[in-house]
Amino acid sequence: MLGNKVRNSSFAALVLALIVLCYAGTKLQANEKGAGTKATSGQKASQDKNNKSPQAEATKVDPSQYVGAETCKTCHEDAAKGYEKGPHWKTALDKRHGPEWQGCESCHGPGKAHAESADPEKIIRFGGLSREESSKRCLSCHEFGEEHSNFLRSQHLKNNVGCVDCHSVHNAKVNRQLLKAAQPALCYTCHQEVKPDFSKPFHHRVNEGLINCSNCHNQHGGFLGRQLRATAAQDQVCFSCHTDKSGPFAWEHAPIKTEGCVACHTPHGSNNPRLLKRSNVNLLCLECHTLTVDVPAPNAPSFHNQAQKYQACTMCHTAIHGSNSDHDFFKP
Ligand code: HEC
Ligand code: HEC
Ligand code: HEC
Ligand code: HEC
Ligand code: HEC
Ligand code: HEC
Ligand code: HEC
Ligand code: HEC
Ligand code: HEC
Ligand code: HEC
Repeated sequence: MLGNKVRNSSFAALVLALIVLCYAGTKLQANEKGAGTKATSGQKASQDKNNKSPQAEATKVDPSQYVGAETCKTCHEDAAKGYEKGPHWKTALDKRHGPEWQGCESCHGPGKAHAESADPEKIIRFGGLSREESSKRCLSCHEFGEEHSNFLRSQHLKNNVGCVDCHSVHNAKVNRQLLKAAQPALCYTCHQEVKPDFSKPFHHRVNEGLINCSNCHNQHGGFLGRQLRATAAQDQVCFSCHTDKSGPFAWEHAPIKTEGCVACHTPHGSNNPRLLKRSNVNLLCLECHTLTVDVPAPNAPSFHNQAQKYQACTMCHTAIHGSNSDHDFFKP
């Protein structure tokens, strides 16, 4: 009972948010009719104003403007099929919320006027919304988790990629998660430039389905550059699978903490074994371990003449990711 109360109050907040969105949506639809364009600054302003005074706007939601999914289905058999295959039909069972949270109208807005007239101008059509507007409709239910809470600041939305570019509510190709295509094909439709990396002789087996782009990246946005994920301990994402590299070590190899794994590895793929950035290990090491560069790394000792013997640096410095027993990484 107590739990219910707490939940109810947070649901009340959610409902309020949704109500605001529904109202903004109807307004948008109305404006659209007049202007015939997508987001104008006037629409933005009206939405912003709504966001500032949810209480005032909440009173404008009128349950009698909703007809329920069963009514919609009588005319939209095809759209209803996809909807029923996915998870969103569950919203119709949710009696803790008002009709603005349930069924078709939770996304398309109050449908009474449309259902009576069959006028497509009287219902929210996603094709008529900007990516930001449509994504905000989805977020009204989905932003309450770490996974999605940064979407509005993501590289994707900033570059006009919204929920509907990757997900399809009515025509999903991958029914689990409602994806328009499975990974990595979905990502390659836009990220052609990274595709060749995963065909190089050495690569993370993404095309083979062993791991996904989304294991390393949060396509919904996050706090790190390149939309990278972090581990639960807020460390580099690589540690989530390569736990043996995470230490802590008595003697750390400094660049692992300062520059990260990408100081020496190319994460997607490489022509070099071990996904190394350079074809010869000595060239990689000497990028930092020479007097000439501006890195706080000691010069390799002078007896390391680059005769054959000293070229294979990791033959001797085997514990290159850190050691608990040896300052010079000769053993683990
Ligand atoms: C009496 C029949 C009828 C009912 C009931 C009805 N619609 Fe429609 N709807 C139509 C017609 C006709 C169109 C315009 C033709 C088209 O685009 O398919 C349309 C168009 C739409 C569109 C725009 C489609 C597009 O291609 O842009 C959406 C979205 C929509 N309806 C959703 C709903 C929802 C949600 C409900 C329930 C609240 C609903 N409809 C109830 C007949 C109906
Ligand atoms: C979770 C949100 C959501 C729900 C619930 C939902 N829709 Fe949609 N609907 C969308 C989106 C997004 C689109 C735009 C096309 C797409 O992405 O699949 C759309 C498109 C449509 C279209 C336009 C035709 C098309 O396929 O593009 C119709 C008609 C429609 N929906 C009707 C309905 C009906 C009827 C229901 C309930 C049975 C419903 N929708 C439930 C989000 C939703
Ligand atoms: C009214 C609230 C609501 C809205 C609005 C909404 N969703 Fe959902 N969504 C849900 C619920 C509830 C589930 C089911 C969660 C579950 O099964 O535990 C869900 C599940 C999902 C899933 C997960 C599917 C899976 O198999 O894990 C995806 C993807 C999704 N929604 C995308 C969207 C997109 C895209 C939009 C906007 C077009 C949207 N949702 C709008 C409530 C909503
Ligand atoms: C760039 C593509 C892309 C965009 C944009 C995107 N998603 Fe996703 N989403 C995915 C992929 C891929 C998965 C499956 C990830 C996996 O397999 O773990 C997913 C999973 C999900 C899931 C189910 C698993 C979970 O994390 O809870 C939900 C819900 C969801 N997305 C909602 C949304 C909503 C809402 C938006 C917009 C605010 C959105 N997505 C935008 C690609 C995208
Ligand atoms: C509809 C096109 C589209 C799809 C699909 C898409 N992206 Fe993107 N993505 C973009 C755009 C546009 C940008 C911003 C410009 C850029 O950096 O390329 C971006 C940016 C990114 C970035 C940040 C790049 C940087 O330089 O900071 C990552 C990482 C990313 N996407 C991963 C993914 C993953 C993983 C998927 C599949 C789950 C995916 N994207 C699907 C269009 C897309
Ligand atoms: C093993 C982890 C991992 C996987 C799997 C992965 N990435 Fe990345 N990705 C990274 C890291 C780390 C960076 C940053 C590289 C840097 O800073 O030099 C990156 C960078 C990017 C960038 C920015 C541009 C660039 O090339 O630096 C894009 C776009 C991108 N990844 C998309 C994808 C896509 C699409 C997939 C799946 C096909 C994918 N990534 C799979 C770790 C990964
Ligand atoms: C989701 C788990 C996962 C994540 C996250 C991950 N890796 Fe991997 N990595 C693997 C697997 C599995 C292999 C095994 C190689 C194979 O057979 O595909 C591998 C192989 C490697 C190899 C080559 C090992 C060899 O013996 O040739 C390197 C180097 C590597 N990963 C570095 C990284 C870096 C750097 C990151 C972070 C950007 C990272 N990995 C993130 C799973 C992961
Ligand atoms: C200073 C350069 C450097 C940095 C930084 C670095 N590595 Fe490495 N890594 C190497 C070298 C060199 C090898 C090849 C060792 C060999 O040939 O024996 C290697 C090999 C590997 C391998 C395959 C062999 C093994 O030991 O399992 C994996 C996996 C790996 N690194 C993951 C990582 C991860 C994860 C990070 C970040 C935590 C990281 N590396 C940071 C230089 C580096
Ligand atoms: C990105 C720059 C960078 C790369 C590449 C790099 N190192 Fe280092 N290395 C450092 C820094 C910085 C230190 C720490 C110096 C300190 O703490 O005084 C260090 C420390 C060391 C030490 C311990 C010496 C000491 O005095 O602490 C050894 C041995 C070493 N590196 C070997 C290698 C080998 C072998 C490679 C190639 C596999 C390599 N390093 C690649 C930057 C690098
Ligand atoms: C045949 C074995 C061997 C090989 C191969 C080797 N080293 Fe060393 N390295 C040593 C020894 C022995 C020391 C000295 C340890 C001491 O002074 O306590 C050392 C010390 C170092 C130090 C520490 C210098 C300091 O001031 O603390 C660095 C840095 C270093 N090596 C880098 C490299 C690099 C880079 C390569 C490859 C180009 C390489 N080593 C190849 C054996 C080797």
